[in-house]
Amino acid sequence: MPVFKTILETKKQRIKYNGSKCGLIPTMGSLHKGHLSLIKKSLKRDDDIWVSIFINPTQFNCEKDLKKYPKNLDEDLEKIKSISKKINVFLPAESEIYPKKIESSKFNMNNLNNIFEGVDRPGHFEGVLTVVSKLFKIINPDNAYFGEKDFQQLCIIKNWQKHNNIPVNIIASPTIREKNGLAMSSRNCLLSKSIRNEAGFIFKSLSECKKICRNGNEIKEKLLEDFNKHLAFKLNYVACIDTNSFLEINEFRKFKESRLLISASVEGVRLIDNIALNN
Ligand code: PAF
Repeated sequence: MPVFKTILETKKQRIKYNGSKCGLIPTMGSLHKGHLSLIKKSLKRDDDIWVSIFINPTQFNCEKDLKKYPKNLDEDLEKIKSISKKINVFLPAESEIYPKKIESSKFNMNNLNNIFEGVDRPGHFEGVLTVVSKLFKIINPDNAYFGEKDFQQLCIIKNWQKHNNIPVNIIASPTIREKNGLAMSSRNCLLSKSIRNEAGFIFKSLSECKKICRNGNEIKEKLLEDFNKHLAFKLNYVACIDTNSFLEINEFRKFKESRLLISASVEGVRLIDNIALNN
Protein backbone atom coordinates (compact mmCIF):
# COMPACT_ATOMS: atom_id res chain seq x y z
CA MET A 1 0.00 0.00 0.00
CA PRO A 2 1.49 3.37 -0.99
CA VAL A 3 2.48 5.56 1.96
CA PHE A 4 3.68 9.13 1.31
CA LYS A 5 5.49 11.14 3.95
CA THR A 6 6.29 14.37 2.13
CA ILE A 7 4.14 17.02 0.49
CA LEU A 8 6.30 16.92 -2.64
CA GLU A 9 5.90 13.14 -3.14
CA THR A 10 2.18 13.43 -2.47
CA LYS A 11 1.67 16.25 -4.97
CA LYS A 12 3.70 14.36 -7.62
CA GLN A 13 1.57 11.27 -7.09
CA ARG A 14 -1.64 13.29 -7.30
CA ILE A 15 -0.56 14.80 -10.64
CA LYS A 16 -0.32 11.26 -12.08
CA TYR A 17 -4.02 10.77 -11.38
CA ASN A 18 -5.09 14.19 -12.61
CA GLY A 19 -8.61 13.97 -13.98
CA SER A 20 -9.75 11.02 -11.85
CA LYS A 21 -12.06 11.60 -8.88
CA CYS A 22 -10.10 12.05 -5.67
CA GLY A 23 -11.47 11.34 -2.20
CA LEU A 24 -9.78 12.41 1.03
CA ILE A 25 -10.49 11.01 4.48
CA PRO A 26 -8.62 13.19 6.99
CA THR A 27 -7.87 11.37 10.27
CA MET A 28 -5.68 11.57 13.33
CA GLY A 29 -5.15 7.80 13.23
CA SER A 30 -6.24 5.18 15.77
CA LEU A 31 -8.77 4.20 13.19
CA HIS A 32 -12.09 2.67 14.17
CA LYS A 33 -15.14 1.47 12.26
CA GLY A 34 -16.33 5.07 11.85
CA HIS A 35 -13.21 5.96 9.85
CA LEU A 36 -13.43 2.70 7.91
CA SER A 37 -17.03 3.52 6.92
CA LEU A 38 -15.81 6.83 5.47
CA ILE A 39 -13.08 5.05 3.51
CA LYS A 40 -15.62 2.54 2.17
CA LYS A 41 -17.92 5.38 1.14
CA SER A 42 -15.06 7.02 -0.75
CA LEU A 43 -14.22 3.70 -2.46
CA LYS A 44 -17.70 3.70 -3.98
CA ARG A 45 -17.39 7.23 -5.40
CA ASP A 46 -13.73 8.01 -5.99
CA ASP A 47 -10.88 6.55 -8.04
CA ASP A 48 -7.89 8.04 -6.21
CA ILE A 49 -8.41 7.65 -2.47
CA TRP A 50 -6.28 9.22 0.23
CA VAL A 51 -6.35 8.71 3.97
CA SER A 52 -4.29 11.23 5.92
CA ILE A 53 -2.99 10.26 9.34
CA PHE A 54 -1.73 13.23 11.30
CA ILE A 55 -2.18 14.08 14.95
CA ASN A 56 -2.65 17.80 14.54
CA PRO A 57 -1.07 19.65 17.48
CA THR A 58 -2.84 22.97 16.87
CA GLN A 59 -6.30 21.56 17.58
CA PHE A 60 -5.35 20.42 21.09
CA ASN A 61 -5.79 23.19 23.60
CA CYS A 62 -4.21 21.05 26.31
CA GLU A 63 -0.72 19.52 26.15
CA LYS A 64 -1.80 16.54 28.31
CA ASP A 65 -4.62 15.67 25.89
CA LEU A 66 -2.18 15.76 22.95
CA LYS A 67 0.35 13.53 24.75
CA LYS A 68 -2.19 10.87 25.63
CA TYR A 69 -3.90 10.82 22.23
CA PRO A 70 -3.84 7.13 21.16
CA LYS A 71 -1.35 6.08 18.47
CA ASN A 72 -1.69 2.78 16.56
CA LEU A 73 0.06 3.30 13.25
CA ASP A 74 0.78 -0.35 12.40
CA GLU A 75 -2.78 -1.38 13.11
CA ASP A 76 -4.10 1.63 11.17
CA LEU A 77 -2.11 0.66 8.08
CA GLU A 78 -3.32 -2.95 8.37
CA LYS A 79 -6.93 -1.80 8.64
CA ILE A 80 -6.65 0.41 5.56
CA LYS A 81 -4.88 -2.35 3.62
CA SER A 82 -7.62 -4.82 4.51
CA ILE A 83 -10.14 -2.55 2.74
CA SER A 84 -8.03 -2.01 -0.37
CA LYS A 85 -4.33 -2.01 -1.21
CA LYS A 86 -4.96 0.81 -3.67
CA ILE A 87 -5.62 3.42 -0.97
CA ASN A 88 -2.89 6.02 -0.55
CA VAL A 89 -1.83 7.08 2.91
CA PHE A 90 -0.48 10.55 3.60
CA LEU A 91 1.59 10.32 6.75
CA PRO A 92 3.39 13.62 7.24
CA ALA A 93 5.72 14.59 10.07
CA GLU A 94 4.81 17.66 12.12
CA SER A 95 7.60 19.66 10.39
CA GLU A 96 6.06 18.90 6.99
CA ILE A 97 2.68 20.44 7.91
CA TYR A 98 4.09 23.19 10.17
CA PRO A 99 7.55 23.96 8.70
CA LYS A 100 7.95 27.31 10.48
CA LYS A 101 5.83 27.55 13.58
CA ILE A 102 3.20 25.26 15.05
CA GLU A 103 0.34 27.72 14.98
CA SER A 104 -3.16 28.10 13.60
CA SER A 105 -4.22 30.49 10.88
CA LYS A 106 -7.10 32.93 11.39
CA PHE A 107 -10.56 32.08 10.08
CA ASN A 108 -13.91 33.78 10.19
CA MET A 109 -16.22 31.06 11.46
CA ASN A 110 -19.25 33.30 11.97
CA ASN A 111 -18.98 32.68 15.71
CA LEU A 112 -19.57 28.93 15.33
CA ASN A 113 -16.18 28.47 17.01
CA ASN A 114 -17.22 30.33 20.16
CA ILE A 115 -20.08 28.08 21.25
CA PHE A 116 -20.46 24.54 22.65
CA GLU A 117 -17.14 22.70 22.05
CA GLY A 118 -15.40 26.01 21.33
CA VAL A 119 -16.10 27.30 24.85
CA ASP A 120 -14.16 24.57 26.67
CA ARG A 121 -11.62 24.09 23.88
CA PRO A 122 -10.48 27.58 22.83
CA GLY A 123 -8.57 27.52 19.54
CA HIS A 124 -9.69 23.96 18.74
CA PHE A 125 -11.65 24.77 15.59
CA GLU A 126 -8.98 27.20 14.34
CA GLY A 127 -6.55 24.25 14.55
CA VAL A 128 -8.97 21.93 12.74
CA LEU A 129 -9.53 24.40 9.88
CA THR A 130 -5.80 25.11 9.66
CA VAL A 131 -4.94 21.46 9.06
CA VAL A 132 -7.98 20.73 6.88
CA SER A 133 -7.18 23.72 4.63
CA LYS A 134 -3.53 22.58 4.37
CA LEU A 135 -4.61 19.01 3.52
CA PHE A 136 -7.02 20.29 0.88
CA LYS A 137 -4.20 22.33 -0.71
CA ILE A 138 -1.81 19.38 -0.73
CA ILE A 139 -4.18 16.66 -1.94
CA ASN A 140 -6.69 18.77 -3.86
CA PRO A 141 -9.57 16.30 -3.40
CA ASP A 142 -12.95 16.39 -5.15
CA ASN A 143 -14.64 14.86 -2.12
CA ALA A 144 -13.69 15.00 1.56
CA TYR A 145 -15.36 12.77 4.13
CA PHE A 146 -16.19 13.62 7.76
CA GLY A 147 -18.24 11.86 10.44
CA GLU A 148 -21.39 13.34 11.97
CA LYS A 149 -20.16 12.55 15.48
CA ASP A 150 -18.14 15.77 15.46
CA PHE A 151 -21.21 17.67 14.36
CA GLN A 152 -19.95 21.16 15.15
CA GLN A 153 -16.67 20.43 13.34
CA LEU A 154 -18.63 19.19 10.33
CA CYS A 155 -20.79 22.35 10.26
CA ILE A 156 -17.77 24.63 10.63
CA ILE A 157 -15.98 22.88 7.76
CA LYS A 158 -19.11 23.02 5.56
CA ASN A 159 -19.61 26.68 6.39
CA TRP A 160 -15.96 27.54 5.63
CA GLN A 161 -16.05 25.58 2.34
CA LYS A 162 -19.26 27.33 1.26
CA HIS A 163 -18.27 30.89 2.18
CA ASN A 164 -14.83 30.60 0.63
CA ASN A 165 -15.95 28.70 -2.49
CA ILE A 166 -13.48 25.89 -1.82
CA PRO A 167 -13.95 23.43 -4.70
CA VAL A 168 -14.39 20.31 -2.54
CA ASN A 169 -17.62 18.42 -1.75
CA ILE A 170 -17.92 17.86 1.99
CA ILE A 171 -19.55 14.48 2.49
CA ALA A 172 -20.97 13.63 5.91
CA SER A 173 -21.51 10.12 7.24
CA PRO A 174 -23.59 8.90 10.19
CA THR A 175 -21.94 8.12 13.51
CA ILE A 176 -20.94 4.49 13.95
CA ARG A 177 -21.65 3.14 17.44
CA GLU A 178 -20.29 0.49 19.75
CA LYS A 179 -22.71 -2.34 20.70
CA ASN A 180 -23.96 -0.39 23.74
CA GLY A 181 -24.62 2.74 21.67
CA LEU A 182 -21.49 4.72 22.60
CA ALA A 183 -20.36 6.80 19.61
CA MET A 184 -17.11 5.36 18.25
CA SER A 185 -14.14 7.60 18.92
CA SER A 186 -10.38 7.06 18.93
CA ARG A 187 -10.39 8.26 22.53
CA ASN A 188 -12.76 5.49 23.76
CA CYS A 189 -9.77 3.20 24.32
CA LEU A 190 -8.63 5.59 27.08
CA LEU A 191 -11.70 4.63 29.15
CA SER A 192 -11.75 1.81 31.69
CA LYS A 193 -13.85 -1.20 30.65
CA SER A 194 -16.59 -0.52 33.18
CA ILE A 195 -16.94 3.18 32.27
CA ARG A 196 -16.91 2.34 28.56
CA ASN A 197 -19.82 -0.05 29.20
CA GLU A 198 -21.66 2.46 31.37
CA ALA A 199 -21.19 5.23 28.76
CA GLY A 200 -23.81 3.51 26.60
CA PHE A 201 -26.42 5.34 28.70
CA ILE A 202 -25.65 8.60 26.87
CA PHE A 203 -27.05 7.52 23.51
CA LYS A 204 -29.92 5.71 25.22
CA SER A 205 -30.82 9.01 26.93
CA LEU A 206 -30.54 10.97 23.69
CA SER A 207 -32.83 8.48 21.93
CA GLU A 208 -35.38 8.65 24.75
CA CYS A 209 -35.28 12.47 24.73
CA LYS A 210 -36.05 12.42 21.02
CA LYS A 211 -39.01 10.11 21.61
CA ILE A 212 -40.66 11.61 24.68
CA CYS A 213 -39.59 15.20 25.26
CA ARG A 214 -41.67 18.04 23.86
CA ASN A 215 -39.11 20.83 24.01
CA GLY A 216 -35.53 21.72 24.89
CA ASN A 217 -36.34 22.41 28.55
CA GLU A 218 -37.79 18.93 28.98
CA ILE A 219 -34.73 17.46 27.28
CA LYS A 220 -32.40 19.27 29.69
CA GLU A 221 -34.41 18.10 32.69
CA LYS A 222 -34.38 14.49 31.51
CA LEU A 223 -30.67 14.49 30.77
CA LEU A 224 -29.85 16.01 34.17
CA GLU A 225 -31.93 13.25 35.78
CA ASP A 226 -30.14 10.56 33.77
CA PHE A 227 -26.69 11.99 34.52
CA ASN A 228 -27.60 12.00 38.23
CA LYS A 229 -27.77 8.20 37.97
CA HIS A 230 -24.23 8.07 36.52
CA LEU A 231 -22.21 10.20 38.89
CA ALA A 232 -18.80 9.52 37.31
CA PHE A 233 -19.96 11.43 34.23
CA LYS A 234 -19.92 15.24 34.15
CA LEU A 235 -22.36 16.85 31.74
CA ASN A 236 -20.53 19.71 29.98
CA TYR A 237 -23.44 20.99 27.93
CA VAL A 238 -26.60 19.91 26.21
CA ALA A 239 -28.27 21.99 23.51
CA CYS A 240 -31.03 21.67 20.93
CA ILE A 241 -30.06 23.55 17.80
CA ASP A 242 -31.59 24.48 14.49
CA THR A 243 -29.21 22.63 12.18
CA ASN A 244 -29.27 25.39 9.58
CA SER A 245 -28.43 28.37 11.81
CA PHE A 246 -26.75 26.40 14.64
CA LEU A 247 -28.74 28.62 17.02
CA GLU A 248 -30.05 27.11 20.24
CA ILE A 249 -33.83 26.52 20.12
CA ASN A 250 -36.44 25.28 22.57
CA GLU A 251 -39.45 24.34 20.40
CA PHE A 252 -37.42 22.00 18.23
CA ARG A 253 -40.45 20.36 16.59
CA LYS A 254 -41.20 23.64 14.78
CA PHE A 255 -37.90 23.44 12.89
CA LYS A 256 -37.31 21.44 9.74
CA GLU A 257 -33.90 20.18 10.87
CA SER A 258 -32.88 20.16 14.49
CA ARG A 259 -30.24 18.30 16.52
CA LEU A 260 -29.54 17.56 20.10
CA LEU A 261 -25.86 18.03 20.97
CA ILE A 262 -24.23 16.76 24.12
CA SER A 263 -20.79 16.71 25.69
CA ALA A 264 -19.72 14.91 28.84
CA SER A 265 -16.43 14.16 30.57
CA VAL A 266 -15.41 11.01 32.38
CA GLU A 267 -12.00 9.70 33.49
CA GLY A 268 -10.41 12.79 31.91
CA VAL A 269 -11.88 11.91 28.49
CA ARG A 270 -14.27 14.21 26.66
CA LEU A 271 -17.17 12.43 24.94
CA ILE A 272 -19.43 14.12 22.42
CA ASP A 273 -22.51 12.86 20.68
CA ASN A 274 -25.63 14.11 18.91
CA ILE A 275 -28.90 12.94 17.46
CA ALA A 276 -31.21 14.34 14.77
CA LEU A 277 -34.49 15.38 16.41
CA ASN A 278 -36.57 15.75 13.29
CA ASN A 279 -36.54 12.28 11.72
O1 PAF B 1 -11.97 14.70 13.16
C1 PAF B 1 -10.73 14.55 13.24
O2 PAF B 1 -10.21 13.45 13.42
C2 PAF B 1 -9.85 15.76 13.09
O3 PAF B 1 -10.40 16.88 13.69
C3 PAF B 1 -9.44 16.05 11.64
C4 PAF B 1 -10.64 16.44 10.80
C5 PAF B 1 -8.75 14.84 11.04
C6 PAF B 1 -8.46 17.22 11.59
O4 PAF B 1 -7.30 16.94 12.30
